[in-house]
Amino acid sequence: MLVLGIETSCDETGIALYDTESGLLSHALYSQVHMHEEYGGVVPELASRDHIRRVLPLTRQILDQAGLQLTDLSAIAYTEGPGLAGALLVGASIAASLGFALKLPIVGVHHLEGHLLAPLLEPDPPAFPFVALLVSGGHTQLMRVDGVGQYQLLGETLDDAAGEAFDKSAKLMGLGYPGGPALARLAQTGQIGHYKLPRPMLHSGDLNFSFSGLKTAVMLIAKQAALNHANLAAEVQEAITDVLAAKSIAALKQTGLTRLIVAGGVGANARLRERLSQAVPPGAAVYYPKLEFCTDNGAMIAFAGAMRLKAADTRYGFSVKPRWDLAQLEAP
Ligand code: KG4
Ligand code: ZN
Repeated sequence: MLVLGIETSCDETGIALYDTESGLLSHALYSQVHMHEEYGGVVPELASRDHIRRVLPLTRQILDQAGLQLTDLSAIAYTEGPGLAGALLVGASIAASLGFALKLPIVGVHHLEGHLLAPLLEPDPPAFPFVALLVSGGHTQLMRVDGVGQYQLLGETLDDAAGEAFDKSAKLMGLGYPGGPALARLAQTGQIGHYKLPRPMLHSGDLNFSFSGLKTAVMLIAKQAALNHANLAAEVQEAITDVLAAKSIAALKQTGLTRLIVAGGVGANARLRERLSQAVPPGAAVYYPKLEFCTDNGAMIAFAGAMRLKAADTRYGFSVKPRWDLAQLEAP
């Protein structure tokens, strides 16, 4: 079965072809980051209009790359939520129109399920069950994953997400948008230990997180006259990755599981990867998607769609779910 995946939940148009026999065949991504840069964040209406321009040309491009045609497709998967309503509607309506024209079933995918299953695209994928650390721009969650659609929430952030903590700290330091990768780059040239930042909820005894206090602490330090930006960036990154690593290891202990997967944009952070590989207990292992599949992409949507083909249908009515709780999903 050949599945076309369409991701349009935020500021990246991701399109991919996944074959249930031979795996990922081709994929392409268009990032709108330069368009939103001058506004310091994503402008939803501009995002929607740009997705409209990109989806079909990128679809043609990846079909050409794979030497295939629209008529070779078996199903179309699209991101149904969570995300920006207008941006989601672009992907959903194009998927429904293509499905109707080609008489193919369509399937709506949960964006975070896409992120969560992305490590399974790798050559040596983890077996179920595993603990998943989901760290994106809008979510920070620890999940117990027993299979596709079998997700149990172990802990989550009570306020800001880890990606948001990176982005907001970067903004306070004048690093622009999106701040996470910029802050991580600057941190490479800085040293930890020069500034004091809190490790919120590190000893809370549960698996929840809180990152909003960090932003306030960064704001106070960022006002200092002789500020060393690289050292502050290194400390921010250290504070966030300290807590993420400690709680992930605690989740392994609490569940007795030996596999941890990390997914979502912050999973691309090199220091987080380093911290986790140092901290996993003997006998346990950490799995990541490749860097390009940590941040938003079409491959994870095509793959999650392929796992949910049973739910695909030919009614072509579509809806989007800008807010959608992952733990409510059911097994396909
Ligand atoms: O998963 P994602 O691409 O989009 C959402 O679904 O939110 O995650 C985006 C988030 C942003 O907050 C971005 O700053 C952060 O991931 N991010 C990083 C890095 N790359 C992306 N944060 C820290 N270090 C990175 N290398
Ligand atoms: Zn995402």
